[in-house]
Amino acid sequence: MLFEEYQYFNYQFPEPQYLGAKHTLLPWINQYIPNNVTTAIDAFAGSQSVSFLFKQLGFKTLTNDFLNFNHQIGLSLIENKKDILTQNDLKLLFQPASKKQYFELIENTFTDIFFEKSEAQFLDNFRANISLLDNSYKQALAFTVMNRSMTRKITMGHFGHTQALVYANNPERVKRNRSLIRPLKEIFEEILPKYNKAIFDNKRDNQSYHQNVLDLIPTLKKVDLAYFDPPYCDSHADYQGFYHLLETYTEYWKNKEFVNGIKRYEPQRFSGFDKKRDVIASFEKLFEISEEIPHWLISYNNRSYPGIEEFEKLISKYRTVKVEAKTYQNGRGGKGSVAGSQEILFICKPKKVHFISLKQQENLVNEGF
Ligand SMILES: C[S@@+](CC[C@H](N)C(=O)[O-])C[C@H]1O[C@@H](n2cnc3c(N)ncnc32)[C@H](O)[C@@H]1O
Repeated sequence: MLFEEYQYFNYQFPEPQYLGAKHTLLPWINQYIPNNVTTAIDAFAGSQSVSFLFKQLGFKTLTNDFLNFNHQIGLSLIENKKDILTQNDLKLLFQPASKKQYFELIENTFTDIFFEKSEAQFLDNFRANISLLDNSYKQALAFTVMNRSMTRKITMGHFGHTQALVYANNPERVKRNRSLIRPLKEIFEEILPKYNKAIFDNKRDNQSYHQNVLDLIPTLKKVDLAYFDPPYCDSHADYQGFYHLLETYTEYWKNKEFVNGIKRYEPQRFSGFDKKRDVIASFEKLFEISEEIPHWLISYNNRSYPGIEEFEKLISKYRTVKVEAKTYQNGRGGKGSVAGSQEILFICKPKKVHFISLKQQENLVNEGF
């Protein structure tokens, strides 16, 4: 790394609250990043913690998640070079929305489940005003910070339960966590400066995508490193069950049903990595289409399906692989990170010393070598 690139480490990643987020493991992961990386992809980026590290390291950073609310974080913190939300922007966002823009999706769907009526109305009003911001990075930042405010306010930081208002009315709980009763506007204003301060230009054209990884990878060229952090199948892989509200707020669905006590949208997006019946075929496909990317780092957990040994065997068809493990002392890391469980990192290198991808081999043959 060049000396001047250390300057990006002055920027701080705003702490997320997301199952399986790797912000606390970044120094550990960083040790295994190979030298000479120009372009890296964080293919299952979630909260974007690893993308943020890639950006700080000065890589051209490609980031992707199949959920739109995560893509908005990618747009606002990774792709965005300079746009922040100013006091004028806040005036626009908090003003009464025009009747033409205003719909009542959150009020009608989530009142008395996650929010009191007035907070649900506030969310609809803010959502209607987002389109008044004058570019897509500011809009993405508004989504990012409001979505984060919602995870701060709702107990346990996810939406897979119906206890939000029960806990907000329990003085003992409120004593421990005042955010349960704070207005969203207040939380938003408190955390916004942390996000504004995290925006920087690493002099690369970084890009955020919003696709199923299996569709995206074949469209990419000249990537040196892929980081794969898939859902840990069989141990909390249900991202759409946990974070449906953020996806509904971002998409403002017009064509979905809202089911169960939590009003999760239906039908869900297809992952391929969250159900036992699909996961092995999905990994095989992922590894095949990643043939052109020489280095892979894969995060995993020792409680996931398939088990470590079987997964290592699967990878070793394509790469030379080394396994590193870190034991969780407590359960704070979220998904799969129960005390005593292990976070695993597969460090995958090309099998040959001089890596020539299949495509390059074909080109050499066509050129008569
Ligand atoms: C373990 S989390 C990633 C956590 C992330 N590394 C972080 O630090 O926050 C897995 C992510 O994969 C996403 N995901 C699941 N299936 C996907 C697919 N087929 N394509 C792209 N993203 C997918 C989920 O939305 C989820 O955010």
